[in-house]
Amino acid sequence: MSLFEATGVSVRYGAVHALDTVDIALDPGVLHGVIGPNGAGKSTFLDALSGRVKPSAGTVRYVGEDITRRPPRWRRHRGIARSFQRTSVFASMTVRAQLDMVAHRQGADDVAAVVEALELGPVLDRVCAEIAYGTQRSVDLALALIGNPRVVLLDEPCAGLVADESVRLLDHVRRLCRERDVAAVLVEHDVDGVFRVCDVITVLNLGKVLAHGAPAEVRADAEVVRAYLGSAA
Ligand SMILES: Nc1ncnc2c1ncn2[C@@H]1O[C@H](COP(=O)(O)OP(=O)(O)OP(=O)(O)O)[C@@H](O)[C@H]1O
Ligand SMILES: [Mg+2]
Repeated sequence: MSLFEATGVSVRYGAVHALDTVDIALDPGVLHGVIGPNGAGKSTFLDALSGRVKPSAGTVRYVGEDITRRPPRWRRHRGIARSFQRTSVFASMTVRAQLDMVAHRQGADDVAAVVEALELGPVLDRVCAEIAYGTQRSVDLALALIGNPRVVLLDEPCAGLVADESVRLLDHVRRLCRERDVAAVLVEHDVDGVFRVCDVITVLNLGKVLAHGAPAEVRADAEVVRAYLGSAA
């Protein structure tokens, strides 16, 4: 049994079948990439795993317990954290105030450790609107890591970053996953980055799993090349 398992998860938005019987199994220390074209259902999948949307079918299990109907707050308190595709930092607050706010909500005391891990010390007393966009994305990641979650779901943490910022953030994600023994999902369009840092990859297309396996295997998959990678492979 894996720490976190989703089986046959489907999500409908009216007539749109955004997710169709998708499975995933997450284990501590393993970084699991989820890639696929725009509209493939990647964010919807994270919404279902984090409790933001209710699946129309399927089961989500955490430490063996069926948590399919549990709300996001319940999951976050028990160690399932996520970050969003759009930056969710508050522009007018300082970095420190936001980290403290989340720590207070979680009853956590690990702000200093997270700040050190993500090298946020120099910007702690800056207002978020005034720091570089790349650093704001690190703050997003930091907010998800407070309280030492066991499962971390990241939706395009590198969106809008330049290449070297992207490399740096993904290195942080990989290291945090290994060092803290976190079971992590990384949704990302930076395909080279995903293939570099992830241990296993699931490819979604039109709401379904198109391929699943080790990075080299997935990269060589003819269907994946045709539907998504194209010349990038
Ligand atoms: N709230 C919603 N209401 C209706 N349809 C939605 C909603 N959210 C997503 N969809 C639809 O569900 C499908 C999957 O969308 P989703 O945002 O999960 O894709 P994605 O893989 O995250 O795409 P992107 O790479 O652009 O972020 C799309 O067809 C989208 O239009
Ligand atoms: Mg998305």
